[in-house]
Amino acid sequence: MKLSVVLLCALVAVQAALLAAPSAEASGLKVGYYNKKCKGVEAVVKGHIIRAMKKNPRVGAALVRLVFHDCFVRGCDGSVLLDKSAQNPHPEKEAPANIGLAAFDILEMIKADIEKKCPGVVSCSDILVYAARDATKILSKGHINYVVPAGRLDGMVSSASEAQAELPDSTFTAQQLIDNFARKNFDVEELVILSGAHSIGMAHCSSFKGRLTAPADQITPAYRNLLNDKCGQRSNPRVVNNVRDEDYNTVSKYMPGFKSRVRKIRDLFDNSYYHNNLARIVSFNSDWVLMTHKEARGHVHEYADNATLWNDDFGESMIKLSKLSMPAGSKGGIRKKCSIVSHPLH
Ligand code: HEM
Repeated sequence: MKLSVVLLCALVAVQAALLAAPSAEASGLKVGYYNKKCKGVEAVVKGHIIRAMKKNPRVGAALVRLVFHDCFVRGCDGSVLLDKSAQNPHPEKEAPANIGLAAFDILEMIKADIEKKCPGVVSCSDILVYAARDATKILSKGHINYVVPAGRLDGMVSSASEAQAELPDSTFTAQQLIDNFARKNFDVEELVILSGAHSIGMAHCSSFKGRLTAPADQITPAYRNLLNDKCGQRSNPRVVNNVRDEDYNTVSKYMPGFKSRVRKIRDLFDNSYYHNNLARIVSFNSDWVLMTHKEARGHVHEYADNATLWNDDFGESMIKLSKLSMPAGSKGGIRKKCSIVSHPLH
């Protein structure tokens, strides 16, 4: 009897603890969070992003990747934006997994503008989430159009080794990717949905080294030859993720059947990643391995067949990504500049 009472109490305590435990999702986030605190902030971000992408279209893809790399490490807290300092010589930016990250200067410019308007109010992490949302909408020609909540605080911690441990690697197996995403509460379908972001942007050849010699059942030999040509031209150059963004002459030479798919405008954000994956013309091992897993493969087919479904599901998954919160007990605040910890503790 005594034992059963103890057991019952323990059960109640565990249940209470589970209820009280902070979820992986940030609490207190709200759509329109700045409506009263800093009116028009979303319009300011959008204006900057439109101008920046007109000047340099590469900015869009960079922002989409940046928000993923921010949110997967310590939640969406702007930790990836911090520069190295005397106090922190190895921030996230230094992690090999963060090779090629860009668009930091744009975010800093937006932040400076917003600071003039509403000093100490808008976090860098919120600016990044808004900016990635706007870039996604522009690159998808309005087809991926989601509403994100805000109210995040900027973190104080940024560690290269933590980023390296948390971010997925392009050499991962399907199971390693699934486990990596499961740690953030993302399932196999969401892994497949978010991987669709590789329909845009570029990658260093070092990020897909293994693919240059992979067998024909893993990569279409004509595409492998194209990548080898591109990668042999300089030391570790960058190559477009989507063959239809490649230059016409190279595609004509290696993949004449794809000539009609080459586009004048790069980085159209759509479900072409899934068609490419089915045709074995994706750059990363981590893309191809999705085809080796039954459930993941099913979703690749599903999203290849239904562009609208992918647009909607991608938006949903980006909202979920943007809600990943800082580890429980972390300190946060509003930085003055996105690259430096300057804020008082909240
Ligand atoms: C599933 C695991 C993933 C792996 C292993 C992975 C890996 C990579 C790698 C290695 C690069 C190229 C970096 C370089 O060499 O410069 C890259 C580029 C990119 N990734 Fe991923 N990624 C993953 C998921 C995602 C997700 C979830 C998103 C966004 C939702 C994303 C968006 C992008 C974009 C847009 C680029 C191009 C960036 C640019 O052009 O600047 N990736 N990814």
